[in-house]
Amino acid sequence: MPTNRAAWVKTRQSPTMVIESAPYTLPDANELVIRARAVAVNPADVGIQAKGVLLTTDEQYPAILGCDVAGEVVEVHPSLSDLFREGDRVIGQTTPLATKDGVYCYSSFQEYVVLKMPSVAKIPGGQRFEDATVLPLGFNTAASCLFAAECLGLRTPPTQRPTPAQETRDAHGQGGKEVLLVWGASSSVGSCGVQLARLAGYEVIATASARNHDMVKQRLSATACFDQSDPALVDKVVNSLQGKHLVGVYDAISTDATLAPVCEILDRAPGARKLVAAVMPGCEAKSSKGVRITTNFVTTFVDSGLARALWTWLEETLQDGGFKCMPPAEVVGHGLEHVQEAVDLLAKGVSAKKLVVTI
Ligand SMILES: NC(=O)c1ccc[n+]([C@@H]2O[C@H](COP(=O)([O-])OP(=O)(O)OC[C@H]3O[C@@H](n4cnc5c(N)ncnc54)[C@H](OP(=O)(O)O)[C@@H]3O)[C@@H](O)[C@H]2O)c1
Repeated sequence: MPTNRAAWVKTRQSPTMVIESAPYTLPDANELVIRARAVAVNPADVGIQAKGVLLTTDEQYPAILGCDVAGEVVEVHPSLSDLFREGDRVIGQTTPLATKDGVYCYSSFQEYVVLKMPSVAKIPGGQRFEDATVLPLGFNTAASCLFAAECLGLRTPPTQRPTPAQETRDAHGQGGKEVLLVWGASSSVGSCGVQLARLAGYEVIATASARNHDMVKQRLSATACFDQSDPALVDKVVNSLQGKHLVGVYDAISTDATLAPVCEILDRAPGARKLVAAVMPGCEAKSSKGVRITTNFVTTFVDSGLARALWTWLEETLQDGGFKCMPPAEVVGHGLEHVQEAVDLLAKGVSAKKLVVTI
């Protein structure tokens, strides 16, 4: 059995991860084990370590964090032998909130990680692990917010991808009258949301800092992008929606500063569906102007057939280049020793990039 090493948070709010040996865990039904090759850091890692949220009791430590991983399959439970084999290159969403027999085997900041279906997809041979690892948590968050019935309940991308000509027609012609506003499109969860909505056939308008508008429009294919710091933002967004149907808002930031203008836009845009999918727990209580705010925390998305279908679709769409690894990865260093550095950098804030460590 391989020996494993992990970046441990030894006690609640300990500011320094310690690299030490960790148990190697065998896969159960619907699980596989991978040798991690790249991990990405997320606001949840910062929140757990610095603020002590989510893992709130002393008994939950020592803990291993990490929600995104890419690597090579080393062991497949027989229940998945039709889908995966040793050596496959995959990405997966992990969670530091789950353990098996008290072991943090489902967290990504370690050399051997247990991945659980459905949040696993094979990646193309030529795709770098450090690029692909930016996707898993962002994908699950955006997909649940956009497609789960408890959130926006939008139609999902077709399994047959449209031709470029159809895409242009859908965005600007008849189909383009259905518009989704993605607030915070340059973030990780926002970048996935823009791509998913576009591939599902919606026109997307977005917000981001001006320096990221080219990325949001050219790489993610939003039709328009507005600067969230523009005092005339609400007027400009409402004007841009003339003759179109706003099907809701995906607020990838979900603070008071974003939800207030989001509710105002939904109130003022003629015929808009007054519905917001938000990404922070408790946002439901922040609704105003008759708008309903939902969050993906109320969905059963990951356990549903919808998640499996979308991860299968992601695998196919990565193969043909239809889904991009965005925002771009910035590699902080090589080795688990660099995970703390990446988490500390993320705590200071990033713009349109995902901090990654290769393992
Ligand atoms: N619900 C869930 O399941 C779930 C899962 C993952 C993350 N989250 C939460 O989702 C949020 C985003 O996570 P992330 O990993 O995507 O973050 P991130 O990529 O680290 O966020 C950085 C980005 O946020 C954008 N941003 C910040 N304030 C903004 C504002 N007022 N308006 C528009 N854009 C703004 C910045 O855009 P510019 O640089 O262009 O200004 C920057 O590109 C976090 O609060 C996180 O905790 C929730």
